[in-house]
Amino acid sequence: LREHEEFTKVKNIAKIELGRYEIDTWYFSPFPPEYNDCFKMYFCEFCLNFMKRKEQLQRHMRKCDLKHPPGDEIYRSGTLSMFEVDGKKNKVYAQNLCYLAKLFLDHKTLYYDVDLFLFYVLCECDDRGCHMVGYFSKEKHSEESYNLACILTLPPYQRKGYGKFLIAFSYELSKKEGKVGTPERPLSDLGLLSYRGYWTRVLLDILKKHKGNISIKELSDMTAIKVDDILSTLQSLELIQYRKGQHVICADPKVLDRHLKAAGRGGLEVDVAKLIWIPYK
Ligand code: ACO
Ligand code: ZN
Repeated sequence: LREHEEFTKVKNIAKIELGRYEIDTWYFSPFPPEYNDCFKMYFCEFCLNFMKRKEQLQRHMRKCDLKHPPGDEIYRSGTLSMFEVDGKKNKVYAQNLCYLAKLFLDHKTLYYDVDLFLFYVLCECDDRGCHMVGYFSKEKHSEESYNLACILTLPPYQRKGYGKFLIAFSYELSKKEGKVGTPERPLSDLGLLSYRGYWTRVLLDILKKHKGNISIKELSDMTAIKVDDILSTLQSLELIQYRKGQHVICADPKVLDRHLKAAGRGGLEVDVAKLIWIPYK
């Protein structure tokens, strides 16, 4: 689908059932044509296969033996786990995930080859299995230094800090790769709000603790946040002055505290000691 066609398509599926949730959808997603007349769709919460009828799902659940996303568990802290799914090794799962995600993503054309992407699926785990709360995708090799292609927190889990957790996680991967990263553009309104919140908190925390001058390049090296994103964040907070042809950070402690308060909750922390991962080769 080209972008224009996507915008003009009306929303087809109104609701989905996923695990213990019924969720209202937000946007059109290009499911195969036989699902076009479908008002509600039923997803297996583990393999993400989708069906038209509840009875089909019930039959499926009796024989589906997945209890977590297919792939490697690369992070576990308390009941939170992150799984890395290779789009090439688990093509059907990756495609199902893209169909599902498109229901909540407006501007993205996500139908590149899933082979080229890794999918980081965040789960809340209990004795019934690992329940997906959200995910982000990442190109295996990005020319533009993108460290995240698409991010989604499923609506029942939104506004609880998972988005910021996923963003933080994407930067932890970049740090392990020894690279700076940036999210693929365009960002949605909610995406931009979440990123702005994350960047603001991370940068201001460092500026607050750091004694003496610090350059934007040093901030970038410490955080894996791309220089442009640091500049735009600090500029929007009016913490940058342009002196003698150079950007200089002016960080008055009182001003920093005011901004930090406004930046809201810190959210769920990524415990780096619990991330067991080597970069994709
Ligand atoms: N209204 C106002 N502010 C909001 C809202 C909202 N509905 N949702 C998030 N925010 C802002 C807040 O500042 C919030 O921080 P706070 O709660 O401390 O004030 C911050 O964003 C992040 O909140 P989280 O709880 O950490 O994020 P969440 O789990 O809700 O996920 C996400 C954010 C992923 C953007 C989610 O809204 C989502 O999935 N949206 C639909 C898909 C989407 O737009 N994805 C981004 C596309 S861009 C891209 O993929 C590169
Ligand atoms: Zn299944």
